[in-house]
Amino acid sequence: MAAFDPEKEIPHHIAIIMDGNGRWAKDRGKPRREGHRAGAVSVETALETCGEIGVQYLTLYAFSSENWKRPKSEVNALMGLLAHFLKEKTPTLMKNNIRLQVIGQIDRLPEKNRLGLQKTIEKTADNDGLTLVVALSYGSREEIVGATRTLMEKAKRGEIDPADLDTETFSRYLDTAGMPDPDLLIRTSGEYRISNFLLWQISYSEIVITRTFWPDFRRQHLLDAIGEYQSRQRRFGGI
Ligand code: IPE
Ligand code: IPE
Ligand code: MG
Repeated sequence: MAAFDPEKEIPHHIAIIMDGNGRWAKDRGKPRREGHRAGAVSVETALETCGEIGVQYLTLYAFSSENWKRPKSEVNALMGLLAHFLKEKTPTLMKNNIRLQVIGQIDRLPEKNRLGLQKTIEKTADNDGLTLVVALSYGSREEIVGATRTLMEKAKRGEIDPADLDTETFSRYLDTAGMPDPDLLIRTSGEYRISNFLLWQISYSEIVITRTFWPDFRRQHLLDAIGEYQSRQRRFGGI
């Protein structure tokens, strides 16, 4: 694996499928929620590292549309951790000039989480360092259907001509409107799948899968993944 080189191109946008919390806990004979709790430390580390090397967007897959299928106790533990993170870490986000944004069906979240998110998003809105995008109750298919529905309604009202629809216009109706596409997609825990994450946006992302479980994912793992990215030749269909 090629070593990280701060002189080479730094990905503008890194997206991470933070996976393996449950298996990390199981290996230690602990309940799954302990894995999620330990994973919060990795989030902090990733934020610090991205801020330090000049990444502009970090998108973290924290909870998928399909994760609602998990036992209520686990869902509650995850929502509790989110509320705790927002409460504890908003001052750190302010101090480090980090702006918070969210993608996903936020209206499905408990009120406490919605309010907490709204507060931190508003508070950090003018920060112009790293943008942290948290994917919550996020599913890419749902996002694409939502965008399509909005566009169809507009067309029905005569506000948009279907003949004018192109990929750029369509992108503006996704939750990620205005964000650059991820340059680098990382999935931890050695699973080789996308799990309904950013299907549209990762068309040309470089993909790095690491075997490390998310709670063990540290600065060096992230730098190694970026080093791997820097060694790739992106062609975007050209030669
Ligand atoms: C990722 O870890 C966190 C979420 C999906 C919320 P998992 O909870 O999926 O951990 P594993 O995959 O079962 O090990
Ligand atoms: C993907 O992980 C979702 C998040 C990391 C939030 P999952 O653990 O839910 O994915 P599958 O079920 O293994 O595909
Ligand atoms: Mg998993």
